Amino acid sequence: MKIALVTGSCGLIGSETCKRLNKEGFAVVGVDNDMRSYFFGPEASTAKTLAQLGKLSVYHHEDRDIRDWDSVEGLYKKFGFAVGLVVHTAAQPSHDWAAKEPRTDFAVNAIGTMNLLEATRLYCPQATFIFTSTNKVYGDTPNFLPLVEKETRWELAEDHPWHEKGIDETMSIDRSKHSIFGASKVAADVMVQEYGKYFGMKTGVFRGGCLTGPAHAGAELHGFLAYLMKCTVTGKPYTVFGYKGKQVRDNIHSHDLVDAFVQFIRAPRAGEVYNLGGGRHSNCSMLEAIQMCEEISGKKLEWTYKEENRIGDHIWWISDVSKFQEHYPEWKYQYDLRTTLEEIHAACIA
Ligand SMILES: NC(=O)c1ccc[n+]([C@@H]2O[C@H](COP(=O)([O-])OP(=O)(O)OC[C@H]3O[C@@H](n4cnc5c(N)ncnc54)[C@H](O)[C@@H]3O)[C@@H](O)[C@H]2O)c1
Repeated sequence: MKIALVTGSCGLIGSETCKRLNKEGFAVVGVDNDMRSYFFGPEASTAKTLAQLGKLSVYHHEDRDIRDWDSVEGLYKKFGFAVGLVVHTAAQPSHDWAAKEPRTDFAVNAIGTMNLLEATRLYCPQATFIFTSTNKVYGDTPNFLPLVEKETRWELAEDHPWHEKGIDETMSIDRSKHSIFGASKVAADVMVQEYGKYFGMKTGVFRGGCLTGPAHAGAELHGFLAYLMKCTVTGKPYTVFGYKGKQVRDNIHSHDLVDAFVQFIRAPRAGEVYNLGGGRHSNCSMLEAIQMCEEISGKKLEWTYKEENRIGDHIWWISDVSKFQEHYPEWKYQYDLRTTLEEIHAACIA
């Protein structure tokens, strides 16, 4: 049985990956130190998810810190060449949190990724390596696109080549304001590409839009739809920052993202980069998301508006996923925005 190493195994994407890879016949070794509770407080702890993973047929947990080279090397020495796959989702995932402790952010996102890449090269170079990057690697460049204000959202001008399908991978990641988080992810993203292009390893970079699903331990600084629904259901006040609440994000269910990983694992490439989000299929503005949460829950969200936007926040982001679809034509979305939010709602009231 091939071993899959999943970092951040108790997080949203990591846990979904563990469950799916188990079904695909991998023995899963999960690495997570619940650093999410350090970032976002006890309500964001992933301890509950760890307990659920323990019920999988072949799951082994390693409470290790990916920043620590000795610990990472120890892990790879333990499992070595039997590792056929690494799915690296462990991260400091918040744009806003990163500015509180830039060194911690860089250590987790950039150094942690470097440690995993190098250990993979030394101990199991044949393994496929998947990295969850982010659309924040493009910095604030998308904000300079010609946007048009509509009643409930910003929209890209209709005559722009990216209007129909969204933003593709040809957008520059250079010369923009990334936020501290975006910059640490750029470092990791480029290094994952390099281990593919320079060393010939099977590495894939998935630049996510908003990733979401019922397994998200939603916190104010990370996990926007899950946190929005949580506030709607519990009556907790919510703050919308800037852009008149018309900023647009695309949202992909963790199931659909992990399904894309599985397609890549079956036919891996070296040093590839994909924009992967909800695309034109699943996206919303803040105002539209609030309306949908209220419709689904039957409750009114108590929200206030702050004029100042989050630094480097995107006004309009929709991922063009057609490069991935061309490479992996079997991949299809299973969830749209409504079905995703219905699942999140069901998890909130369970
Ligand atoms: N959720 C989103 O909207 C989104 C969007 C774009 C990209 N991404 C990227 O996708 C990946 C997964 O995101 P997620 O939403 O599942 O995040 P998450 O916070 O739910 O999961 C990340 C996990 O990593 C663990 N972790 C953090 N630091 C660690 C360390 N030093 N050692 C070991 N484990 C550590 C955390 O405890 C957590 O369980 C991240 O790389 C993130 O940057 C997420």
